[in-house]
Amino acid sequence: MASEIKNRECAVLKFEGKEVELPVVTGTEGDKALDIRALRSETGLVTIDPGFVNTASCRSQITYIDGERGILRYRGIPIEELVKKSTFVDVAYLLVHGTLPTAQERLDFSSMLNLNSLIHEDMRRFFDHFPQGAHPMHILSTMINAMAAFYPNVDINTTTANIEQSCARVISIVRTIAAFAYKKSIGEPIVYPRHDLSYCANFLNMMFDSPVRPYHISPETVRLLNVLFILHADHEQNCSTSAVRVIGSAQVNLYATISAGISALSGPLHGGANQAVIEQLKIIHKDGDVNKFINMAKDKNSPFRLMGFGHRVYKSYDPRAAIIRKECENYLNRIGSSDPLLETARKLEDAALKDPYFIERSLYPNVDFYTGILYRAMGIPENMFTVMFALARLPGWVAHWREMIGDSTKIVRPRQLYIGRTLQEIGDELESRSSTFLL
Ligand code: SDX
Repeated sequence: MASEIKNRECAVLKFEGKEVELPVVTGTEGDKALDIRALRSETGLVTIDPGFVNTASCRSQITYIDGERGILRYRGIPIEELVKKSTFVDVAYLLVHGTLPTAQERLDFSSMLNLNSLIHEDMRRFFDHFPQGAHPMHILSTMINAMAAFYPNVDINTTTANIEQSCARVISIVRTIAAFAYKKSIGEPIVYPRHDLSYCANFLNMMFDSPVRPYHISPETVRLLNVLFILHADHEQNCSTSAVRVIGSAQVNLYATISAGISALSGPLHGGANQAVIEQLKIIHKDGDVNKFINMAKDKNSPFRLMGFGHRVYKSYDPRAAIIRKECENYLNRIGSSDPLLETARKLEDAALKDPYFIERSLYPNVDFYTGILYRAMGIPENMFTVMFALARLPGWVAHWREMIGDSTKIVRPRQLYIGRTLQEIGDELESRSSTFLL
């Protein structure tokens, strides 16, 4: 029941003969939230919401998503604008600092990214001890965590100047570690970052250059990587960003916090889906019967899910997927190549979007559905797909960490509803035990 009391909007909760007013707060885009901070003290009740489907964990100024209308904006700017007019470094600055950089701010930020792009040589030797088959996401989370041993601690008590440098360092070094992990996985010598290359060009060069096989940095591939990184840069309170906020709330240093975000992202329900999509498309392409897999995805007795489909927030076509699909088709046409998996993906999408099961549940392609096909065309190996997602999401994680340490010093510690055994239920058991059992 809503009410307008003391000229603020409230919801009135009736419980055990008591009426409790709970304030309703409104966001700048009109979203409303029930502020339940007084709920337990006023009623003794807590709320329960597995997966936090209905729960806002914080107030944030960073990213806005309208899941019904397929809208995604970073600091108020639509992604469609940013992919046309900005680079990933511009967007990283925007997310972390709140506005697009001036020419001078961009120069300073780029210089800080460049000066912080090398990893400590002792850290570089870690790569000699990872097994060749180690998944790059595991290497990435390990190495980012190890940064805490090599670089000054960065937490809520650190000075702003050091926080600035450390945020630039982790956004830059993650790219170097990712490329080194790839070189390690193929047994090639690492390629160091260069001061004369842009963020994305540097990454491609570190990945594909070699002492015996010079790599031609294609401006089109650099543009495309900027677009892909921009589209993945932030997405409000997704699983990995929430992990960053939870870990960071204990005043853990920045590197350990980001390492937790990388670990969360690696899950196949989250960032790991981009690699799972390609693995699934290969199976479906080989089998040839798209409808068989659509039916498997609908079968409640089968654990099979259509990877790259569905989203907690988007109940319409993921705006990122729409851009990536178009870029994918254009890029393959431009390089005169085709990928049979793109045809399979299109058939799968067409079949699913006509199927009542998917329509009723508002299941559409998400950011991961076409990304892998584009990475394949760019020569990125499949075990690096989720690493690409992590590189891109770094500025988002850093922005949320900074917003969180600036906002609240409250540690994240949810309540629970206990449904275990009661003392009465184990009374007999205790009696039957020897007297040595101490309560
Ligand atoms: C990312 O949160 C973010 O913003 C994440 C992300 C970001 O940028 O950070 O956008 C990146 O992680 C994208 C999602 C990548 N994951 C996948 O593609 C994995 C496949 N998708 C699903 O597992 C699922 O859709 C999730 C995990 C993405 C969302 O899960 P929800 O919101 O918990 O939804 P749900 O599992 O409760 O599903 C609701 C219904 C269920 O059916 P019913 O019980 O109502 O009968 O939809 C069904 C589900 O069975 N369903 C699917 C399905 N996804 C949901 N059925 C078949 N195939 C699917 N992919």
